[in-house]
Amino acid sequence: MSGRKELCTPLRTIMTPGPVEVDPRVLRVMSTPVVGQFDPAFTDIMNETMEMLRELFQTKNRWAYPIDGTSRAGIEAVLASIIEPEDDVLVPIYGRFGYLLTEIAERYGANVHTLECEWGTVFDPEDIIREMTKVKPKIVAMVHGETSTGRIHPLKAIGEACRAHNALFVVDAVATIGGCEVKVDEWKIDAAIGGTQKCLSVPSGMAPITYNERVADVIAARKKVERGIATQADRAALSGNRPITSNYFDLSQLEDYWSERRLNHHTEATTMLYALREGVRLVLEEGLEARFERHRRHENALAAGIQAMGLNPFGDDSCKMPVVTCVEIPDGIDGESVRRMLLAQFGIEIASSFGPLAGKIWRIGTMGYSCRKENVLFVLAGLEAVLLRHGAAIEAGKALQAALDVYENAGRQAAV
Ligand SMILES: Cc1ncc(COP(=O)(O)O)c(C=O)c1O
Repeated sequence: MSGRKELCTPLRTIMTPGPVEVDPRVLRVMSTPVVGQFDPAFTDIMNETMEMLRELFQTKNRWAYPIDGTSRAGIEAVLASIIEPEDDVLVPIYGRFGYLLTEIAERYGANVHTLECEWGTVFDPEDIIREMTKVKPKIVAMVHGETSTGRIHPLKAIGEACRAHNALFVVDAVATIGGCEVKVDEWKIDAAIGGTQKCLSVPSGMAPITYNERVADVIAARKKVERGIATQADRAALSGNRPITSNYFDLSQLEDYWSERRLNHHTEATTMLYALREGVRLVLEEGLEARFERHRRHENALAAGIQAMGLNPFGDDSCKMPVVTCVEIPDGIDGESVRRMLLAQFGIEIASSFGPLAGKIWRIGTMGYSCRKENVLFVLAGLEAVLLRHGAAIEAGKALQAALDVYENAGRQAAV
């Protein structure tokens, strides 16, 4: 018997753009018993989750189910299932996760065309539409909420243009789903991928996706049933198809698993599905609009506190993500030292950034269960104290007052 102790993780205040604090109700369902994957008790949970995901994505799509794996597994499953070698894919990039779309698309043999704009800004949709007219892509793939820069991209005009140009519109809504409006049908998004560990307050490890019939038709033309479980009829019907190159991310096989046929693919991640179901149930119970409003309220309080302290917000304010606030690291201050001290002294985690923004900004998330008044006030108090300890020239004593003003005003308005 080894002397190793029972796992004992520290209790943190997580104010990053993910993973965030898991809702206690989600943690509770994760400790309920595992049932078999074809047990009606479990298939009912699968069906309920699909139904709730449709509401979350604001869609009437038949297909709305999770991919087992982190959010990029959802992105990869969608792209792997619709990209064939030499397909033209247009990716407008305004931060790190736009590059991720290009990396995945390239690996499946696409001719990737990119447009780039400065990090901290987004595109004029007309620029994307003009490029679409030139490239005539089969697919336009882009990020809705770019956590690396804290920007959110308007999608409606692009969705409409994709429909007009007969391109499939694939959207990474990993960081926005459950925290900001994501209107799949109204914005004519053909496939959307959400994330669990951000505004849904579920651990990382699953990626809910949805797609419409335009995407389903592409997948159907590549349909495959694994040799060991195919019937004679499957073999006869599917013999000419050129299958999706990935086995794990083959959405044609996953459709057979998530529909009446219940044809086994992988073994579903039982406990993660419980967690996702509860996370989405919490969102729908709160109500989409009320939840988005809660995220905006706490964002306002955080932003007011940051500015009152004399810190500069980063990026173009007109396209700021409501669930991520980026802050310029003041000159002469070591951003990583500030983050380390916040964690060591206060148990608060905030994030740094990537690429051209590494060492230049901090990113503070207000997502899901982490998006609470006490967390916002705590992060402002902690940041102020740590910055003073680092000799930063900030306004002391103003941040919490500014945030409290926002909460009091919001309370007065709600009472009217
Ligand atoms: C916008 C966006 N897309 C994709 C990802 C990748 O998600 P994961 O790390 O869960 O695979 C992230 C993760 O932070 C993200 O913020």
